[in-house]
Amino acid sequence: MNTILIISKKVLFYVISLTMIFILLARCSSNHNSIAQRDDINHKVDSLLKIMTLDEKIGQLNQYPGQWEMTGAVPKDENFRERYELIKNGMVGSMLNVKGVEQVRAAQKLAVENSRLGIPMIFGYDVIHGYKTIFPLPLAMSCSWDMEAIQRSARIAAVETAASGINWTFAPMVDISRDARWGRVMEGAGEDPYLGCEIAKAQILGFQGENLKDISSIAACAKHFAGYGFVEAGREYNTAEISENTLQNIVLPPFKACVDAGVATFMDAFNAIGGTPSTSNNHLLRDVLKGEWSYNGFVVSDWGSIDMARSHGVAATKKEAALIAFKAGCDMDMGSSCYLKNLKELVKEGSVKEDLIDDAVRRILSVKYELGLFEDPYRYCDSLREKELLLTEDHLKEARDIARKSIVLLKNENNILPLNKEGLKIAIIGPFANDKDNPLGNWRADAEKASAISLLEGIKSAQTSNNIAFERGPVLAVEDTTISSHKLIFNNEDRTGMKEAIIAAKSADVVIMAIGENCWQSGEARSQADIRLKGLQEELLESVYAVNKNIVVVLMNGRPIVIDWMAEHVPAILETWHLGSESGNAIADVLFGDYNPSGKITASFPRSVGQCPVYYNHKSTSHAWGHPIYASRYIDMENEPLYPFGFGLSYTSFEYSNLKINKKEVASDEELSVSVMVKNTGKYIGDEIVQLYIQDKFASTARPVKELKGFSKIHLTPGESKTVKFKLTANDLAFFTANKKWEAESGEFNVWIGPNSKEGLIESFILN
Ligand code: NOJ
Repeated sequence: MNTILIISKKVLFYVISLTMIFILLARCSSNHNSIAQRDDINHKVDSLLKIMTLDEKIGQLNQYPGQWEMTGAVPKDENFRERYELIKNGMVGSMLNVKGVEQVRAAQKLAVENSRLGIPMIFGYDVIHGYKTIFPLPLAMSCSWDMEAIQRSARIAAVETAASGINWTFAPMVDISRDARWGRVMEGAGEDPYLGCEIAKAQILGFQGENLKDISSIAACAKHFAGYGFVEAGREYNTAEISENTLQNIVLPPFKACVDAGVATFMDAFNAIGGTPSTSNNHLLRDVLKGEWSYNGFVVSDWGSIDMARSHGVAATKKEAALIAFKAGCDMDMGSSCYLKNLKELVKEGSVKEDLIDDAVRRILSVKYELGLFEDPYRYCDSLREKELLLTEDHLKEARDIARKSIVLLKNENNILPLNKEGLKIAIIGPFANDKDNPLGNWRADAEKASAISLLEGIKSAQTSNNIAFERGPVLAVEDTTISSHKLIFNNEDRTGMKEAIIAAKSADVVIMAIGENCWQSGEARSQADIRLKGLQEELLESVYAVNKNIVVVLMNGRPIVIDWMAEHVPAILETWHLGSESGNAIADVLFGDYNPSGKITASFPRSVGQCPVYYNHKSTSHAWGHPIYASRYIDMENEPLYPFGFGLSYTSFEYSNLKINKKEVASDEELSVSVMVKNTGKYIGDEIVQLYIQDKFASTARPVKELKGFSKIHLTPGESKTVKFKLTANDLAFFTANKKWEAESGEFNVWIGPNSKEGLIESFILN
């Protein structure tokens, strides 16, 4: 018996050793392969560059939108005709907004079969949260804190995009934003840089896969570099004033995470910081991105942003605009023609060195090589793949899964939720109750209009025998069709439908109110000074409440909104954002308890717009001694938001206990272990997002009162407990200090583990 044991131990030892050797060899060879692949690409790019004329090089830096039919006869419109010719002459390196295999193939053909060198174009598109299968808004998905699901959503988006001829997405948007007035909060991962970094990495891995050459991979684009989320007063395109401390500690980390994750491209931003437009910000693009971070992908401008230098008042002519953007490090011109029309002259007169042009072209060509476009410019143009890979059942299943995970239960008084599956008379009321379009959100890529499952549809197809009534109530808004960009005119007067809604509510056991924001209220150019419910929605809610207090609000919106009255009166609130194609099914899953909500908000909900920007990781201030008058506070409202970052309820309850750290003092080269016991003390199986925060109590600059440094999503059955462990290293404690470098300063730290940024068990330790 003993001998057998000894022999089998030996065998096991050899097996393990051999396996390790194999793994190491495999790693070495794959590293070796990727180095060899890079060398090969560099070599090919250099050879190509040598035979390119200056005009052809400048052509590679030029991107045009394809807002016209690429197939068929040459367009009649003069501009478009000119652009056809430019493509044919190799003067267009990239196009955006050309989609579908047929269109992309036609455009690519113009470039490849007519230009002297036949260099393929790269095709970009805004695939922000899905292509045909639409996932929840990025802000919504961030509330899932589920990196695998987020990565899967990006992967599916990539599969569908790549099957439609496109090989480059302008995502992820990694702008940290703290101000719900800004319309684009919906495109990012909220207010926290740590979570922002994790999500950025997951998205890039999803879009780009292991290898860009994989036919289902597309190049990603980290945007908007940088500071766009800090536009003053949340007003779109406004200037941003960001201290170096905040830029380094809050704004830049997610971009650095993108570089580390191997993102193929970057996009700069419309905003200026301290008067310098991001598109011509030499410090950001050359010193930080291409210098300090050694980034070797390429930078595309935002739409027309090179020419926006004139609008900012830092360039008088397009030529000056081209000069400052190009010298600063913006490689590709999205749509403004500034490079195309001026770079040659700038080189000829000596203002721009041809070496710099070569550097930009080299970056762009490298990405094209990595995508395999030189081997086969039409590799993304397979109509069979296009037919088979879009909007599949599997994709929709994933969309429903992540939509459920993105929902946040904000309030559930007396456990009104989940609803019984039988015996209830339910009235579904509100402008979004039977809306199949708004849940798609505003970056809906190639989704069919009104193709989402509405809430009413979802509830009706849930397996319940409840009695369902529906009344929309007054319309929220109408679109001003004289303008093409979905301009809304809110309805503050026409109460048609109000009476019927109240009658339906009166006779119901429970009312589900689908209210919130039209999808065109958030996104680009959709900032709002007032972030309460628009139109007659507050009146509708209060009127319904007057006749029936059993209300479950299903909020559909693209930003945190002010819901003070609702939070005080209504027993249950589900934040569902704009959840995409499977919206109604996902919400029904949660309403009837087929899925226990587990999302936690990633952007604080203000009590009033006057608190904006409001965020949990604000710095310690002066007067923090607790004086009733002389303190950093408002005299008419508390400082705390209505719902803090990281907050979200479940149908079950979790108890946190036994917070432990393995040492009270830790050296800078040691790890600190922190653990906590979490128990499911309720009746439902549930997931909990366990969050770890730290505070550097005394440092060379004022530090945030709390900073997220770890999280873990755990699954617990009723009565079950789990010990959740985290490790902290000096790296986690480091910040951009008064010495202007990233370092951990010795001293006292607090550490919390809890269910959100406001609650948790606390310990402290000293870093030596
Ligand atoms: C402008 C937006 O700011 C950017 O995010 C987007 O990628 C480009 N337009 C292209 O559509």
